[in-house]
Amino acid sequence: MTTLAILTAAGSGTRLGRALPKALVELGGSPLVLHAARRLAASGAVDRIVVTAPPGLAAAVSDVVTADAHVTCPVRVVDGGATRQASVAAGLALAAPEDDVVLVHDAARPLASPELVRRVVAAVRAGHPAVVPGLPVTDTIKRVSPALASRAPAARPAPPGLVVERVVDTPDRALLRAVQTPQGFDRALLERAHAAGAARAAVEDLAATDDAGLVEALGEPVHVVAGEESAMKITTEPDLALARLLLEERP
Ligand code: C5P
Repeated sequence: MTTLAILTAAGSGTRLGRALPKALVELGGSPLVLHAARRLAASGAVDRIVVTAPPGLAAAVSDVVTADAHVTCPVRVVDGGATRQASVAAGLALAAPEDDVVLVHDAARPLASPELVRRVVAAVRAGHPAVVPGLPVTDTIKRVSPALASRAPAARPAPPGLVVERVVDTPDRALLRAVQTPQGFDRALLERAHAAGAARAAVEDLAATDDAGLVEALGEPVHVVAGEESAMKITTEPDLALARLLLEERP
């Protein structure tokens, strides 16, 4: 009974606007992927890590992660795919026979704590085969339908760049959770979910943005445990600035 963590780091990070792929961008002097790998290892709940690397950068990612004294569990690096879903599938193919629990974690969430990793693994090992960390949402969320927007006759031509979307409904905020990683799975269930959703993996618009979504598509239950603010996702420069503040507070 061992736990594999797949650490997805193969994205380009175009919205961050750096020359480097996002996982290699530094936060407090270390690349994001290294922060994430250190915290996975520090949890004591992960036996091995497979990192998915951007095209042509497997050796560079390997140098960063495997040489670090804080990453105390074995690490393998594999080329990622065209989508996150494809990257996870590539990592999952390297699971060892004894891995019965698989975590999937994004290098884009470098400060997810060892406590959070342990909480997710504990919930899976307690009998919940698919577990995601989630936080209550503070904004009111609207569901929109861009397709309906064009039906309204415009009084005058819209200024260039103005996008208008039609609101469809307002889900009850108390029932919404903003979902994070690491997400944890019974290994056989995750493999079944990826096999069933494999046709979606190659196309960005169809591919699953998280692994729990693939499990839900099977009709299998997914459970939520408490997430944390520090597991925030880095997408833009302001996210990186906030992560710097969080890291200063809790090195
Ligand atoms: O692009 P986004 O930030 O949503 O990606 C989430 C995570 O998935 C990141 O850690 C990114 O490196 C990873 N990813 C990947 N392979 C891709 C695209 C994204 O491993 N093809």
